Amino acid sequence: MKKIKNICCLGAGYVGGPTMSVIALKCPEIKVNVVDLNADRIAAWNDVNLENLPIYEPGLDEVVSEARGRNLFFSTDINTAIKEADMIFIAVNTPTKNYGEGKGMAADLKFVELCARQIAEISTNDKIIVEKSTLPVRTAKTLQTILESNGNNVNFEVLSNPEFLAEGTAINDLLNPDRVLIGGSKTESGQNAVKSLVDIYSNWLSPQQILTTNLWSSELSKLTANAFLAQRISSINALSALCEATEADVDEVANAIGKDSRIGSKFMKASVGFGGSCFQKDILNLVYLCRHFNLPEVANYWEQVIILNDYQKHRFAKKIINSLFNTVNGKKIAFLGWAFKKNTNDTRESASIYVAELLIEDGAEINVYDPKVSCEKIKMDMRNLWELKGINEDVIFSKLAQIKVYDDPYEAVNSSHAIAILTEWDEFRDYNWTSIYEKMYKPAFIFDGRGVLDVNEINKIGFNYYSIGK
Ligand code: UDX
Ligand code: UDX
Repeated sequence: MKKIKNICCLGAGYVGGPTMSVIALKCPEIKVNVVDLNADRIAAWNDVNLENLPIYEPGLDEVVSEARGRNLFFSTDINTAIKEADMIFIAVNTPTKNYGEGKGMAADLKFVELCARQIAEISTNDKIIVEKSTLPVRTAKTLQTILESNGNNVNFEVLSNPEFLAEGTAINDLLNPDRVLIGGSKTESGQNAVKSLVDIYSNWLSPQQILTTNLWSSELSKLTANAFLAQRISSINALSALCEATEADVDEVANAIGKDSRIGSKFMKASVGFGGSCFQKDILNLVYLCRHFNLPEVANYWEQVIILNDYQKHRFAKKIINSLFNTVNGKKIAFLGWAFKKNTNDTRESASIYVAELLIEDGAEINVYDPKVSCEKIKMDMRNLWELKGINEDVIFSKLAQIKVYDDPYEAVNSSHAIAILTEWDEFRDYNWTSIYEKMYKPAFIFDGRGVLDVNEINKIGFNYYSIGK
């Protein structure tokens, strides 16, 4: 087994950044170079002021402050980092393809392929290549083929080591994971490579926490884990609609069924719909794979998780419009929260984007407050959505004028007709809701997409309060 002394990670994003920071923290004898094409992002990772790190993640600043400059380095010098490394993690993004074959379903592997080509071209010594990005099953084969074609007599061994961290709890998930999964080929060199990676994680994890499988099981387990988690949310969200029709309470139902140890209580919070960079992308990818392997029943089964999630986002927006007397035209709707969940500044696939779109379509003015998301990001999210739909620039310009972003929640809700809660930030519970009520048009509405407020207290103040599944 080769002892790893130098690691390179391609991609300094939500996965690459925190994962490498923790590896560097726990393995001070290994030099960890995190590289990225995006110079601004790298500059932010190197910023002396830790509040300017490109990712907001509780506890990340402390880890970076301890390891950065010691054995953790962020740079745009990709070639040097590749050349020096014995082990290279690929953590570039793998978005859903928005063109050509598999458009809207398949994972776009062009960045991963570019990484493999660059590694093949530059490498002069044997390397272990680790798939960190979520990839379709059998991508390791593609990588191996590209790498082997370099003709430099360099040996590459490809491993799959999917990341299960959730944003907002990434550092804790990395320090105390339920499991680390490593897939490798069953050849002698494959198993040696697996041992080298196990050796790294053994610096802080017990052998029971580290699972090893074949490559394909590891790749598929990541897609499957996300599909199962998302399926639970869609299941409870489906029931939330039935609860509203029958006067059952979705939280009570979730609590009652969650006590059954076979079901368990986690991932059963009804919501305005799941977001994030992974769930939708990975399920679409799974559906695409099933269709590719001619398994339409399996594909349709998983696709329903996405269909239900879209339904939930629409249902929430429709509820707002219907409650406000069938139109929100010219009305101010305050959005509390824009991130896809609390404790992150990530907004990818956030339900807020889709709810905002529907309300703007109906003529609303959206006043947003999120403790960690910038105005630029919010406008960029909407612009990207509309550009993808082929909406022309003039229309985009006028739609963007319907969004205002505030640094102060009390200003965002001022003179609004309704408040929609899109993210479960803890601070929302502690607001002075009586004073908020006084600042709003009457009847004052709250649409709680995250079930964060106390129904009785809010009703007592005088609000018309709607909470999902109640
Ligand atoms: C990751 C995973 O890699 C993805 O497969 C998983 O499903 C979600 O999480 P994430 O870290 O969240 O992606 O993505 P992102 O924050 O976009 O970071 C990717 C980084 O790679 C970006 O900073 C981008 O600039 C960089 N990149 C991309 C490169 O350096 N080179 C490329 O060729 C492409
Ligand atoms: C997810 C997986 O949890 C993680 O293992 C994987 O590596 C990446 O994808 P992430 O997307 O960061 O992580 O966050 P997660 O906590 O899973 O939340 C995803 C979405 O589901 C959020 O929008 C969240 O608000 C929503 N959610 C979660 C619910 O609506 N109800 C729940 O009960 C749980």
